[in-house]
Amino acid sequence: MTADGPLVLGIETSCDETGVGLVRGTTLLADAVASSVLEHERYGGVVPEVASRAHLEAMVPTLERACATAGVRLADVDALAVTAGPGLAGALLVGDAAAKALAVALGRPLFGVNHLAAHVAVDQLEHGLLPEPAVALLVSGGHSSLLLVPDVTADVRPLGQTIDDAAGEAFDKVARLLGLPFPGGPWIDREARDGDPAAIAFPRGLTGPHDMRRHRFDFSFSGLKTAVARWVEQRERQGEAVPVADVAAGFQEAVVDVLTRKAVLACREHGVADLVIGGGVAANSRLRVVAEERCAAAGVRLRVPRPGLCTDNGAMVAALGAELVRRGRPPSGLDHPADSSMPVTEVVAR
Ligand code: KG4
Ligand code: ZN
Repeated sequence: MTADGPLVLGIETSCDETGVGLVRGTTLLADAVASSVLEHERYGGVVPEVASRAHLEAMVPTLERACATAGVRLADVDALAVTAGPGLAGALLVGDAAAKALAVALGRPLFGVNHLAAHVAVDQLEHGLLPEPAVALLVSGGHSSLLLVPDVTADVRPLGQTIDDAAGEAFDKVARLLGLPFPGGPWIDREARDGDPAAIAFPRGLTGPHDMRRHRFDFSFSGLKTAVARWVEQRERQGEAVPVADVAAGFQEAVVDVLTRKAVLACREHGVADLVIGGGVAANSRLRVVAEERCAAAGVRLRVPRPGLCTDNGAMVAALGAELVRRGRPPSGLDHPADSSMPVTEVVAR
């Protein structure tokens, strides 16, 4: 360990990215990512078995790349962290087994951490220590949650989540029906720049008065996806061209409107002055603009890590590991499980 804090290695394999990050304190030293996304393209979604095999092949080269970038040796590592869940079971097992093997070989403590808490903690690498409490909006292909975060290492409370599709999943499905490649989020983002977000009025899920009582901070994107599909089908039935840019812009606006409205409301109602947005969808350019505007209007400070840190990566796991070490939290046992449905309230696997 040096004066700047312990060197922490983080491993992430919950979905289709094999990530290895190296962090010292809140300083990012390396963030090596190997993605199997192209192998899933023709299926229109991540195929678990393909992802697991790709992790197995990418693990050692990605580890070596991270160490080379940071200019450190594995023997220099003070502690390890790995995503223990939630995620694809087989994919998680590859990272968890690799991390346990390294922890044994190096004789260093290992933290099996929650993927969602890691998405929040990663912001420390860019904007310094997290304000406490913060509200976090996590939006990706696998999750869409609003969290109250009094302490990212020990106290993460769910305020709401999607009751059907994740936000990124909706982007991917709508992109598919518009004939755009997978993953669809970045393509919709690009198409929407040439479209009129007000040209087609798509529904805002769970925002009516009744739903705002029962599902105040929950999300629903499956009705929106169906509305887009119906609209496109009708156009095609009438033999008319589908205005892809307008559909993309209208759909994106509906998602962004609901996400930002509920996130700012959560801050206001919980008396929280800081909002962190993470997950792959946080890369969305319109989400960033609208969140900025609405946070400014509500007096909420907004923290969004740069896009490369928003998507799945090992640096986020290392960032949470470093914070756990800094706070003196006990590591997980080597027998901790990889838990595909790890609850968000469980920051460290035991
Ligand atoms: O966090 P992530 O890399 O992986 C998980 O799903 O956990 O997120 C990937 C998701 C995909 O659904 C992708 O379409 C979406 O993030 N995404 C975007 C953008 N970039 C990635 N969605 C909207 N706009 C973007 N610019
Ligand atoms: Zn994620």
